[in-house]
Amino acid sequence: MLLEVRDLKVNYGVIEAVKGVSFSVGEGEIVTLVGANGAGKTSILRAISGLADVRRGQVLYGAADEVNLVGMPPHDIVKQGISHVPEGRLIFAPLTVRENLLLGAYTRNDKENFEADLDGVFSVFPRLKERVNQVGGTLSGGEQQMLAVGRAMMSRCHLLLLDEPSMGLAPIIVEEVFSTIVKLKEMGTPILLVEQNANMALSVADRGYVLETGNIVLSGNASDLAQMDEVRASYLGK
Ligand SMILES: Nc1ncnc2c1ncn2[C@@H]1O[C@H](COP(=O)(O)OP(=O)(O)OP(=O)(O)O)[C@@H](O)[C@H]1O
Ligand SMILES: [Mg+2]
Repeated sequence: MLLEVRDLKVNYGVIEAVKGVSFSVGEGEIVTLVGANGAGKTSILRAISGLADVRRGQVLYGAADEVNLVGMPPHDIVKQGISHVPEGRLIFAPLTVRENLLLGAYTRNDKENFEADLDGVFSVFPRLKERVNQVGGTLSGGEQQMLAVGRAMMSRCHLLLLDEPSMGLAPIIVEEVFSTIVKLKEMGTPILLVEQNANMALSVADRGYVLETGNIVLSGNASDLAQMDEVRASYLGK
């Protein structure tokens, strides 16, 4: 496995947000964590990135030489090849599209490949190419989401953590974002996808885990989960 989370526990003061969860992401996989508001999805991604206080457990990363990411500073976790697109996107509003993408590449040593990778991002998101000199803050919501994902691509990450990429987007843009997720997977990037839009998430994922108030209550192949009555009733609105 590329990422193996074991018995992860995250607290905020006395609040137990994540109560001991275990799951994995393999090479070339899209794995999704689905669950209602407050289930602990964001906390898990933040724990992997070194941004949340881990009380217990391990986050083992690496196909060959496994390292435990728990306790590692966030900038070192980025250097391990993990890129996190947080909830709410957080692009740099005053900077242009090009400058935002340049910042995505800042931890890389091979700056000479920047232009070629930029072309790669533009082939996935032609919309960004048209707007290369526009400032980020004036992009539409969907375009900002594309920019956030493009920035993650520029880091040449080996694992992409995506938190609610469909949030606040029109249905047609949601379709675009999800087809991009599939493209990234086809380009070989494993993805851990957090979504409230369980329908879309399970349709693109290989495997999934269902979270309820800090615990994993179901797991399996994404297509099997999408067929299960309890998942359909609680998360798919069917
Ligand atoms: N900084 C914080 N301080 C205190 N409690 C927090 C903090 N961040 C999150 N929590 C709590 O931890 C629990 C899990 O939150 P988390 O953001 O991980 O949920 P989520 O599954 O991502 O929800 P959503 O779908 O609404 O984004 C919630 O009860 C939340 O109120
Ligand atoms: Mg969240």
